[in-house]
Amino acid sequence: MAYVFDREAYNKRVEWFKHDRFGMFIHWGLYAIPARGEWVRSVERIHKEDYEPLMHEFNPIDYDPREWARMAKAAGMKYAVLTAKHHDGFCLFDSKLTDYKATNTPCHRDLVREYLDAFRAEGLKVGLYYSVIDWHHPDFPHYGDRQHPERDNEAFKGVQHDFDNYLKYMHGQVEELCTNYGKLDIMWFDFSYDDMTGEKWRATELVRMIRKYQPDVILDNRLEVSGSGFGSLATAHPTEYSGDFVSPEQIIPPKGIFDEQGNPVTWEACITMNNNWGYCATDKNFKPAPLIIHKLVECVSKGGNLLINVGPDARGNIPPESVEILSQLARWMGKNSASIYGCGHAGMEKPENGRLTRKGNKLYYHIYEAAIGDIPLEGLRREQVEKVRLLPTGAEVKISDSWMSANYPDTVFVSLGDSPILPDPVDTVLEITLRA
Ligand code: GLC
Repeated sequence: MAYVFDREAYNKRVEWFKHDRFGMFIHWGLYAIPARGEWVRSVERIHKEDYEPLMHEFNPIDYDPREWARMAKAAGMKYAVLTAKHHDGFCLFDSKLTDYKATNTPCHRDLVREYLDAFRAEGLKVGLYYSVIDWHHPDFPHYGDRQHPERDNEAFKGVQHDFDNYLKYMHGQVEELCTNYGKLDIMWFDFSYDDMTGEKWRATELVRMIRKYQPDVILDNRLEVSGSGFGSLATAHPTEYSGDFVSPEQIIPPKGIFDEQGNPVTWEACITMNNNWGYCATDKNFKPAPLIIHKLVECVSKGGNLLINVGPDARGNIPPESVEILSQLARWMGKNSASIYGCGHAGMEKPENGRLTRKGNKLYYHIYEAAIGDIPLEGLRREQVEKVRLLPTGAEVKISDSWMSANYPDTVFVSLGDSPILPDPVDTVLEITLRA
């Protein structure tokens, strides 16, 4: 029977995801030892025999996923996604299909199981990232591949690969994750490219198997595309493996994402805190917390989610710079999360002095720029406004009727006191209750 996209079931499946808005991405694995990012094997064309022995020294003695979960929760993150297997093929979980796994390292731990237990215990939804690309498996294409570490190594030219055998392995591992680790909320696949897409992965069979064991799980769109391209989810007829959200990477879609019929598409921007997903010891280019707060608000104002990444080091520590950023996010989210959770596009133009998010009749006006005198709330007329409150304190904010703004009756002005400095210089949020 031909597949028909069940939009009602889809909308129900993604409801929690669109409410929660904010998650933690965690890229962790053997690549934390070279500490030059998760693509180090490919970029430096490191041979398997020079890279894979790293597993015999991988011993994250400081790994404390409960601490990670506490930091994520405090920062206002409602879900997390951990790399169960990245492109290098190393498994952080106790797969029975390979010896190349964390339980065979000096730590002898199933790092995925500990992560799932810890984040669930803190009340977060849990996701696993799984790379369909695998530079470890002998039957994944090597020579001539776009990014395999041996892609231009003549020694591999002409080597025959039994790709069906690789797919049996890949599907088997996904089945292990879907059957041995309890309820998963997200399966985050990465990534399709060139002809390596869709049914090349036997994607329909894969998704049917996943949904058999995890009927409520949501999937990203990378069984069809990579971070670029939306995939069939943005068309009128999504495939059975379209996934449930589009995954723009290191970018926020300028206008959000809509399908070819103009319907908003569920999307999540995945962004690094510095410039690397995996731990990179020399990459100190961390985004300041105020910037991340503005980007979270921007994602929500455009109807999307933000998945912000941390890359723990080889001992299992989230870098101190990321820990500090998470604590600053916690301070803002602790007071302002009502303007994020369950919110989306306000249905109004972006004001010049900030951004808008909305949940029903609650309009959250994010003021980024102080004003001379009273603050204009662009796009609002006085008769629309029932009341205004300063979100962090709940304090009444009075609509101004000073003579200075009398010339502009079509704009609501408010006064936040005598100081020229905003109560929160990063983002002062007003909760505006709109009249029905
Ligand atoms: C890209 C990178 C991969 C990373 C992913 C995160 O696909 O190849 O290393 O895990 O982005 O979205």
